[in-house]
Amino acid sequence: MPLSQRSTLTQFLIEERRRHPDASGDFNALILDVALACKAIARSVAFGALGDMLGNHGGGDSVNVQGETQKKLDVVSNEMFLRANEWGGHLAGMASEEMDGPYHIPRQFPRGKYLLVFDPLDGSSNIDVNVSVGSIFSILRAPQAVVDSGRDVTEADFLQAGAQQVAAGYALYGPTTMLVLTVGTGVYGFTLDPSLGEFKLTHPHIQIPADTQEFAINASNSRFWEAPVKRYVDECLAGKAGPRGKDFNMRWIASMVAEAHRILMRGGVFMYPRDTKDPSKPGRLRLLYEANPIAMVVEQAGGRASTGRVPMLTVPPTGLHQRIGLVFGSRHEVERIERYHAEPVQVPDDTPLFAKRSLFRD
Ligand code: F6P
Repeated sequence: MPLSQRSTLTQFLIEERRRHPDASGDFNALILDVALACKAIARSVAFGALGDMLGNHGGGDSVNVQGETQKKLDVVSNEMFLRANEWGGHLAGMASEEMDGPYHIPRQFPRGKYLLVFDPLDGSSNIDVNVSVGSIFSILRAPQAVVDSGRDVTEADFLQAGAQQVAAGYALYGPTTMLVLTVGTGVYGFTLDPSLGEFKLTHPHIQIPADTQEFAINASNSRFWEAPVKRYVDECLAGKAGPRGKDFNMRWIASMVAEAHRILMRGGVFMYPRDTKDPSKPGRLRLLYEANPIAMVVEQAGGRASTGRVPMLTVPPTGLHQRIGLVFGSRHEVERIERYHAEPVQVPDDTPLFAKRSLFRD
């Protein structure tokens, strides 16, 4: 289709709004502010070393609340999200991977009815090596009491299950910049036209194939995996001769947004499961601004997202920076992994004491 005939993100949002005549327009304006932040980040990412944007923030001494070294671009991207979204009057507050607590909308700006939660630059260890990174965002409704009183938001206001999300999406800063969005009516992909500075609808109604022969997991953690994950990966690795009867391919980019996008485009399964590497951490990825938004996008595209045990979108959050095991992608594979978690661990018959008993936590 000629570029001029493709609808822009703005046109898409306006047409969506026509289907909800009582909508105020706040939500559309918020999405456009998020998109603006993503465009600004895309520009900084694209300048790389030319924009003095590579390397660690504060000479490597700066760590975020997760204890991870902050990159210059982590900090810059966080600022871009805050500046693009604080002024419009659509938000009651924000929370981000890069900030310990909730961000209060400065008093000079009006406050609104939504909450924005984001990871401004996911996969940022890839920045210095010029590999794709992205931003992830989730939009929730602020509790009515917050909207009515205009009070500052607290951590508790953000602790809503993923199923409560109003919208979610990500921007991928790869060979092209893309914005992938769901407002709960399917998943739409927009490609940034750099000459116009506009996102154009290029991927309507994205659907994840239910079956796949591709999986993604950081295999260097295999000694820490729980038995159901080990079983699943072993069966994939066994290929045609194994119980799956087909060969599998493996990928690991270490940029979850990029893995999610690949899976949206051609299917696959991604696992960063709970493991025993650090018993104080129930997983690597964060529930509110990584797992939940990606889970909403994946499920809206006909895929499935899970902790391995329960659907991700049903998990009641307990903390802003809570970590969780995450499995998502092609529906039949994720269901299989969930089945393996639900089944008792099979121990060889010559160890009758443990046969059929699960040796693992629930
Ligand atoms: O913080 C999240 C993240 O960067 C993801 O984007 C990615 O999937 C993961 O961490 C990479 O983890 P690892 O360093 O174990 O490969």
